[in-house]
Amino acid sequence: MKLQTAFLLFGALSSCLCIESEALEYQANGQERKGVRSENTFIDSLRHHRVRKSIDPTENITEKINHRYYESQVFRDGQKYWKYIEGKRKTIKQTGLSDHYLTKKTLKLSFKFPYYGHYLDSVVLTTGGFLYMDVHNTRLIADVQYLAPLMAYFNSKLGSDSKILTLDDGTQLTVQWSNIRLHNNTNVGPFSFQCTLHSNGTIWFAYKQIPVDVDSIPDRTYHPVRVGLSDAFVILQRDRVRPIIYRYFFIYSQVNISKKSVVSGSAVVFRPKPSCVTGDSCSQCMKLNQTTEFVCQWCPATTRCSDGADRHRAEWESSNCASMAVKKITDKRCVAKGTNQNQSGGDGIGAGAIFVICIVLVLVICISAWCFYAYRYPTTKSGLYLIELSRRPREFFSRGSSGSPSSSGHAAPSDIKPRVL
Ligand SMILES: *[C@@H]1O[C@H](CO)[C@@H](O)[C@H](O)[C@H]1NC(C)=O
Ligand SMILES: *[C@@H]1O[C@H](CO)[C@@H](O)[C@H](O)[C@H]1NC(C)=O
Ligand SMILES: *[C@@H]1O[C@H](CO)[C@@H](O)[C@H](O)[C@H]1NC(C)=O
Ligand SMILES: *[C@@H]1O[C@H](CO)[C@@H](O)[C@H](O)[C@H]1NC(C)=O
Ligand SMILES: *[C@@H]1O[C@H](CO)[C@@H](O)[C@H](O)[C@H]1NC(C)=O
Repeated sequence: MKLQTAFLLFGALSSCLCIESEALEYQANGQERKGVRSENTFIDSLRHHRVRKSIDPTENITEKINHRYYESQVFRDGQKYWKYIEGKRKTIKQTGLSDHYLTKKTLKLSFKFPYYGHYLDSVVLTTGGFLYMDVHNTRLIADVQYLAPLMAYFNSKLGSDSKILTLDDGTQLTVQWSNIRLHNNTNVGPFSFQCTLHSNGTIWFAYKQIPVDVDSIPDRTYHPVRVGLSDAFVILQRDRVRPIIYRYFFIYSQVNISKKSVVSGSAVVFRPKPSCVTGDSCSQCMKLNQTTEFVCQWCPATTRCSDGADRHRAEWESSNCASMAVKKITDKRCVAKGTNQNQSGGDGIGAGAIFVICIVLVLVICISAWCFYAYRYPTTKSGLYLIELSRRPREFFSRGSSGSPSSSGHAAPSDIKPRVL
């Protein structure tokens, strides 16, 4: 029996390792290496949630394009989007990345960055000219959730002046790939470019030096060349027999930027558009349905607004949201919860109740504070009063009932009795 499970386990691991060895894998830099092991229990695969037709085939160099989550705009003369971060006090040279290839490193953000409507605390820096925007340890990081000013197989070891710099000033993060060269292709000169992530969700790509036509950089089997944004949601499926979890990454609403627009001096700006994910109440969700091109639905069980394709998809499925979702603002569940602009009477009662609770709380705190004081300093007036009170409570109450009409005042002294005795 034991032998059998061991055999199964071995089979599972070896099949995973086989897949691993085929892929060019981004290794974590430094102490993160430990986490790499756990990946062996996952088998990852990539799906497209929806195949959308290309938005505008007549895309040209300076055009503005409306995608679902972002509006992108390419500037041929985009030098004003380049941020000079070199030599600034807060600029950090990422030494772990500046002399490597196929290496990644998690960077904690000092602000929450909304990406496809989801707030992120951290991003993963890579040597490959892109950021990975989620936390999964997967060999698919170059395919599924990337923010790529220019993703290619770069190697920062190949130039003495190659470096990767970051500057997080509290409201924006700039990542700069400086003088980096293509792996396996050193005759092409150095590349310098950056991306800036603003806390309001706006993203800038800026290109200082692009020595070749980006279209001519060949895709490597496991290292594609990409420019743009991508996000995915993850669905896990446990294998019935083997100790493996299948992990499906469903890509939704990718934003591709034409490689022709990536030239020295150009820039790309992405402005976030409102989407279902940003709705945090039922009424807001229904409003988003009317004001955006998304068909937003509200799930009362998870209290989330969604069109079914975002990072909360797994939760949406496990809570069976599709069958119970609120689709109309007139829905009773929408009126009952999450909205404030129903009858004002209901609101008044709510506010009144809160007021009463506050008063009671304040009273309780004051009385406890007085008791504490009296208990600590028994020789003070309050202390003596408390002692008298605890010795002859009945007498006291019969005497004091005319003087203190407050009912909460009655309850409190009897509460403290055990402590005094
Ligand atoms: C780009 O698009 C604009 C407006 O759609 C058009 O006026 C312009 O001629 C186009 N340029 C090229 C090079 O196609
Ligand atoms: C990269 O190097 C490999 C051998 O290491 C070679 O087969 C391949 O042609 C090279 N590719 C480029 C683009 O130079
Ligand atoms: C977001 O921030 C950027 C940079 O500060 C600014 O240019 C842009 O106008 C802001 N967008 C919105 C919608 O506030
Ligand atoms: C973006 O480009 C990739 C190939 O690089 C393609 O598979 C995908 O369908 C494109 N997405 C869109 C929305 O055009
Ligand atoms: C939501 O949008 C869809 C399609 O745009 C529409 O059919 C539906 O009536 C909308 N629902 C509400 C509550 O506006």
